Amino acid sequence: MSDVNAPALCPIPPRLVAAGAGSAEFRPLLDLADLVPGGMRRVSFGDLDLLVAETPAGIVVTDDRCPHMSAPLSLGTLDGCVVACVLHRGAFDLSTGETATFPTTGGLDADGMHHSPWAPAGAPPKPEPSESKATARALTRTRRLRFYPSRIRDGILEARVPAATQGVEG
Ligand code: FES
Repeated sequence: MSDVNAPALCPIPPRLVAAGAGSAEFRPLLDLADLVPGGMRRVSFGDLDLLVAETPAGIVVTDDRCPHMSAPLSLGTLDGCVVACVLHRGAFDLSTGETATFPTTGGLDADGMHHSPWAPAGAPPKPEPSESKATARALTRTRRLRFYPSRIRDGILEARVPAATQGVEG
């Protein structure tokens, strides 16, 4: 199959390549026929869960773990390049790795700046958590997304996946 008409791959910010992925071998993730524009899929290698998304900026492969508290981003919603997490309403730009909306719990952003808790419009304010919970929230850092370099070969999306993980599970 020719890859001439294959969807584009989203450029990866070089500083946001996942640990060990830059020099890892390419491994097959999924058939492109199983991905649709605006769609997301979860692909697991051992205990490594990856998110594959087809955004307007191209196909993206990143960890299927929210950079806040690790919820599966594949359960969220994709609006353009921004994926929204189901757990605390954080939203993340898959084309840049940056936070688009900070989680409702507040905490530290990737650069260490504190963000206060917030409630969505129409929702009651959250009760103050216990002292230890408040401290944990205040010190929880929401990091930038990390990416896996990818390519397309004969209609199959492949990504550089570190060797410690074996076998596609889904
Ligand atoms: S785990 Fe995703 S916003 Fe909190």
